[in-house]
Amino acid sequence: MPRQKHCRPEDLFQAIGRRDMWRYWPLLPFKSVEADFSPLEVGPSPTISCDKLAKKLGISRLFLKDDGRNPSASLKDRASNVAVAKALELGFSNIYCASTGNAASSLSCISAAAGLNCYIFVPAATPEAKLSQMLVFGSRVLRIDASYDEVFDLSMSIGEEKGWYCRNSAINPYLLEGKKTATFELFEALNWNVPDYILVSAGDGTILSSVYKAIMDLLDYGLISRSPVVLGVQGENSSAIADTYDSGFPFEPIDQTTQCVADSINVGKPRDVIKACSYTKQNGGGFIRVSDDEIVAAIYTLARTCGIFSEPAGAAALAGLEKALADGIIGRKASVALLITGNGLKDIRPVAALCKESKVLPPDEKLIKEELK
Ligand SMILES: Cc1ncc(COP(=O)(O)O)c(C=O)c1O
Repeated sequence: MPRQKHCRPEDLFQAIGRRDMWRYWPLLPFKSVEADFSPLEVGPSPTISCDKLAKKLGISRLFLKDDGRNPSASLKDRASNVAVAKALELGFSNIYCASTGNAASSLSCISAAAGLNCYIFVPAATPEAKLSQMLVFGSRVLRIDASYDEVFDLSMSIGEEKGWYCRNSAINPYLLEGKKTATFELFEALNWNVPDYILVSAGDGTILSSVYKAIMDLLDYGLISRSPVVLGVQGENSSAIADTYDSGFPFEPIDQTTQCVADSINVGKPRDVIKACSYTKQNGGGFIRVSDDEIVAAIYTLARTCGIFSEPAGAAALAGLEKALADGIIGRKASVALLITGNGLKDIRPVAALCKESKVLPPDEKLIKEELK
């Protein structure tokens, strides 16, 4: 669709009888709606106004985009949906990806629904819940005793030799296009009003880039009139994108050996680092670094004040907000949206100690009442 200024949403997103992410197909890389290959609905995920937590943090509004509610329980379903549609459009019957976990469980899910053969390359340390998703959905899973960064390179070499369709971050140009539908939904839920800040965690940097791309698309069509400040959140020992950004323009990737409680953003060689840094510079955004303890504390805060159980990488966005408020980067009157990118049941390791501590009681009413005291 040609660029046009000041389009009405109803003209751009014509009624197509679907409420999922395919509603936005005029802004996706397809000539027509390509939705029929799968009965699954990816999006819309809820945008929740969490007033209790906003009050506790001292900000004016807090919106949580809970993308853990997608078919495989992460935002990655948006990218996999577009990748599978493209693979089918181009006539492939095999698809592959390397992943820290979610891209693979998501690709396995959507491929199963679409009838594509799916090949998955993951580090051996991938959380069990994500691994079981891949296996249950019937993918051929290659679990490799190496880091995500090494697994990525191995997958490229094998996938290319086999001639399979590639759903790897930054290699596949369409992933970012699919991921931007989360930001479209966020703005639509806010009636095209713009929050002051959006925070999201960054591993390869594709989700972060997709937020910027969505904002640029919406500005182009006049659906929003200003840009929020976007902040990418990284682990303090897993901050290759933030470090590259800080090193200044022209950006030269700074790869590193990483450690982060949030496996999904434990990435030492981010594949979309240049795009993420360039968009950040172009749009006046920035980065926040958070510790493992801050991420785990944010999991509890989200769960206990908002009723949202987030996986560590999703909760990192809240940890980033708390850090930005403490450091005065975000002012107390701001309105803020956080992308909660994955569901907490995908990786319970950071909270597993709670189950171990929980005492087993005998079936004795007196003793149970005693315990309640
Ligand atoms: C739950 C979750 N959040 C955030 C990210 C980071 O996304 P990206 O690698 O596009 O930066 C991922 C990536 O795996 C993820 O699974």
